[in-house]
Formats: sequence, structure tokens, C-alpha cells
Amino acid sequence: MANILVTGGAGFIGSHFVRALDQKQFGKIVVYDMMTYSSDLNRLKGFDGLIVTGDIGDFEKVVSTLRDGEITHIVNFAAESHVDRSIEDVNPFLKTNVFGTVNLMEAASAYWLETDGGYKGKLFVHISTDEVYGELSEKVRPLDEKAPLRPSNPYAASKAAADQFVIAKISGEGFPGMIVRSSNNYGLMQNDEKLIPKIVHCLKEGKDIPLYGNGQQRRCWLFVEDYCRILNALIQLEPIGEIFNVKGASSMSNHEVVSKMRAAYATFVNLPVEAVSDIAFVQDRKMHDFYYNIDQSKLMRTAISPAHKKLEDFIDEKHFFIK
Ligand SMILES: NC(=O)c1ccc[n+]([C@@H]2O[C@H](COP(=O)([O-])OP(=O)(O)OC[C@H]3O[C@@H](n4cnc5c(N)ncnc54)[C@H](O)[C@@H]3O)[C@@H](O)[C@H]2O)c1
Repeated sequence: MANILVTGGAGFIGSHFVRALDQKQFGKIVVYDMMTYSSDLNRLKGFDGLIVTGDIGDFEKVVSTLRDGEITHIVNFAAESHVDRSIEDVNPFLKTNVFGTVNLMEAASAYWLETDGGYKGKLFVHISTDEVYGELSEKVRPLDEKAPLRPSNPYAASKAAADQFVIAKISGEGFPGMIVRSSNNYGLMQNDEKLIPKIVHCLKEGKDIPLYGNGQQRRCWLFVEDYCRILNALIQLEPIGEIFNVKGASSMSNHEVVSKMRAAYATFVNLPVEAVSDIAFVQDRKMHDFYYNIDQSKLMRTAISPAHKKLEDFIDEKHFFIK
């Protein structure tokens, strides 16, 4: 029977992934999380598997967790994930995103190679980001998985470095790894520091909504439940050595997102839009990439259906304001 370890499983995407896991496919589901500021155990309410508090950089603890759980599959969501924080202090990003990922793979190798069959029947899924490809103008052709990595902020650089280590371990040692690079996720229970929860907070508190620069930065928004369904389907294909881009169904500028959410909130509280929080344009952040644009043709060539849910529809459903 396959058993799965989900690192960073108390984080935003990791917790959605745990809930979406097919209980029939995995005998044991183990969450392994260091419980940093961005974790929240409330996201795992109802989960009856094992939750281990630990650092992916702790070799002994990872190996003993893998051994105890007889883990065959690892999905690595554990990361420092906020770009603004990486600009203030890159050290935690190097420690978790680069060293932690390398250590996690070494621990997986050490354990898997002591089991019958070695790497056979094992899979390590590394969760990466479209930010590794760097900034693009809207006019440039979308980038596929073979495009060079040109990160342009410290978070993206740490994720690109981790990707290179994963690629090196796969090609150098036959490690059973794969990489998935997605665009921006949205959905319920996201950390307050990210754009959409921040807008919700301002609207509820009646505070101005700060918007970096001219607000024209554009992102491809991927519904987290779509993403977790796609990840599950990819895992079943077991495409060892492959990299997949996964993009969202909506491309919207930050200004469009804020405006749409203001209008939805005004309807929700039955007020004219002018009566709810206003937009306050603030100085752009350093290294604010304009656009990321990935090509997911490779995913489309599988039988897996791409993301469908549009951010516009999610906003209209007013999930954000009900919590
Ligand atoms: N959120 C997005 O829009 C997005 C987009 C593309 C890629 N990603 C990637 O997806 C992954 C998950 O992102 P998220 O938004 O859920 O992040 P998150 O910040 O919500 O969750 C990260 C989780 O990792 C845990 N963690 C941090 N350091 C750890 C360590 N050393 N050992 C064990 N656990 C540790 C945290 O406690 C937290 O629970 C990340 O790798 C991120 O780079 C996220």
C-alpha cells in the first residue's frame, strides 16, 4: 500500500491538498510541518491522519518519520512563500527552500534505498512556482517547461535553486522526482499577508486597500481546489523525471482584482461602492514582477482536465466575506 508524506501540509495549498487526497490510494497520510507563522492547524480540522511538527532540514527527524510511516510518496509544499519577506531577509528562504529541499531528498534517498525495491514504487513531488521563469511582458510567448530559469526576486531564486537540485538528483542518481510549477493560487483559508485575504481584511475593517504602484501587475489566478485535483491526477500518472506547468483559468491585474472585490463587497453589505473601502495606491515594492506567463500544453496533452474555476466567479460567490 502507498503511504504519503505531505510537507507544509498545515500551509494554504498543502492543507487543501491533504483534504483532496484519495483515501483509497494512500493507506497512511502524514503531515510534516514546522508550524511557522504561515501554518494553521485549523485548516486541517477533520483530518484524522498523523501530524508531525518538524523541519524539512532536520535529516534525522525526516528519516525517522519516513521510516515510521513506511512512506512511498512525498509531496513537498514546505516553503517560505512570501516574496516581500524574501526581500527583507533571504536567510529563511535559503534555509527552507534550498537547504530544506535538498535535505528532504537526501533523507528520502537514505530511507528508500534501505527498503525492498529501492526507488521502485516511490515518488517525490516538488512543488515549485511559475516565478522561477522570471518576469515577462504580455507580448512574449508563454514559457514552457524547457524555458531557462530567470528568477527576479529572492523567493523565486530560492525556488529556482531548489528546482535545479531536484533536476540534478533525478538525472544524476535516478531519484524518482518530478516538479510542478504553478501560477498564483487563491481560495479559502489563505494566509492574511497575500493579496486577496488582505483585500478582504481591509474591506471588513473599512480601511483603505493598499495597491502597489499602478496596480497593473497581472497574475494568472489558479483556484487551489483545481490545483489539488490536478496534482492528485499527476501523481497517479507517476511521471518520474518530468516537469509540469499548471496555470489558472483567470488572468487579472491586481487593480481588476481589487475593483471586482470592492464591487462584490458593496453588493454584499448593500451599500454603494463609493461607501466601502477605497483603493490607496502606494509606492511599488522592489522587484515587483509585471507578469508571469506559462505554457501548460504539456499538461493539456495528458488526459487531465485543466483548471476551470475563474477568480471572477469565485469573487461573485462572495465566499471571502462569509467566514
Ligand atoms: N500560494 C501560491 O500562490 C503559490 C503559487 C505557486 C507556488 N507555490 C508554492 O506552493 C508551496 C506552498 O505554498 P503556500 O502558499 O501553501 O505556502 P504557505 O506559506 O501557506 O505554507 C507553507 C507551509 O510550509 C511550512 N514550512 C515552512 N518552512 C518549513 C520547514 N523548514 N519545514 C517544514 N515545514 C515548513 C509552514 O509552516 C507552512 O505551513 C510553496 O512551495 C510555494 O512556493 C505557491
